[in-house]
Amino acid sequence: MSSLKEQLQQHEAAIQALEITSAKALEEYRIQYLGTKGIVKMIFGEMKNVPVTEKKEAGQLLNAFKQMAEAKYAAHEHLKDAGNDSSPREDLSLPGDALPLGTRHPLRKVENEIVSIFEKIGFSVATGPEIEDDWHNFTSLNMPENHTARDMQDTFYVSRNPDYVLRTHTSSVQARVMEKGQLPVRVICPGRVYRNETISARAHCFFHQCEGLYIDKNVSFADLKQTLYYFVKEMFGEDVRVRFRPSYFPFTEPSAEMDISCTVCGGSGCSLCKHTGWVEILGCGMVHPNMLRNFNIDPDVYTGFAFGMGVERITQIKYQVNDLRLYSQNDVRFLRQFQSL
Ligand code: DAH
Repeated sequence: MSSLKEQLQQHEAAIQALEITSAKALEEYRIQYLGTKGIVKMIFGEMKNVPVTEKKEAGQLLNAFKQMAEAKYAAHEHLKDAGNDSSPREDLSLPGDALPLGTRHPLRKVENEIVSIFEKIGFSVATGPEIEDDWHNFTSLNMPENHTARDMQDTFYVSRNPDYVLRTHTSSVQARVMEKGQLPVRVICPGRVYRNETISARAHCFFHQCEGLYIDKNVSFADLKQTLYYFVKEMFGEDVRVRFRPSYFPFTEPSAEMDISCTVCGGSGCSLCKHTGWVEILGCGMVHPNMLRNFNIDPDVYTGFAFGMGVERITQIKYQVNDLRLYSQNDVRFLRQFQSL
């Protein structure tokens, strides 16, 4: 018993004297004292030689020794994480991980493209408010109150008397530009518009338009056609054919709608062109003299043309997106497809 006690005292003194300053030294300590072939296990093995009468006291001494040895280990365990190697583990010279790139929304991308096509031929961008008064959205555009043409656009009213609406088209920006009284005018007006439509694959309560307006002396329908031919070639390519159909808009006279040959089937017929070979892309016409008069522009001196196109429509044709709801659902699986554009 006394020899066991002595042994333990010696080991204890040795442990206490030991200075552990590195993870490596800590591991050596663990192996030497606490490992499966370590000193603690070895001394426990000697219990079988201790006479029965002394077993109790010996057991207590051994347990105290074991706890002391383990406590020493625990007190230095933090060294394990720090390591004893003072050089940095990371290679700071490596390039960082690339951040995932966001994508431009397809509508914004197409809007930018439309704008830059017109900027190349001297148009500049004009914008206006989305909450618009009756005058700029309707009345000044030759659509007085009770005019049946107001039925063409189901309107969200923000207030009544005075009437404020969510603008139903970007033609309201035409009015805002004309009232500035600076001639000539050559603007392209992109923006969001609102209509009281039930949301479906083919209709939405908000969408985007791009309006064009050109007013100067001697502007003719031929100028309108050439400008739009140029736009179509830039946007859809050289091979696309164009046709104009007579139409009606209160703010233009004469008015027309423009179709392009279907870019999906080339004219042979598919679901995009509803098997006609043609897809409508915009409304246009010569600015109505009444509208010019509304802004004190003399229609005998100045003439102009205007056009308005749907950005969703152009995007649908370019990228064959056949459900309008996709544009506003924020589904990354849809949006990621435009990553490299
Ligand atoms: N504002 C019309 C619409 O929303 C589109 C339009 C047609 C605009 C003819 C024009 C135009 O400027 O001349 O349906």
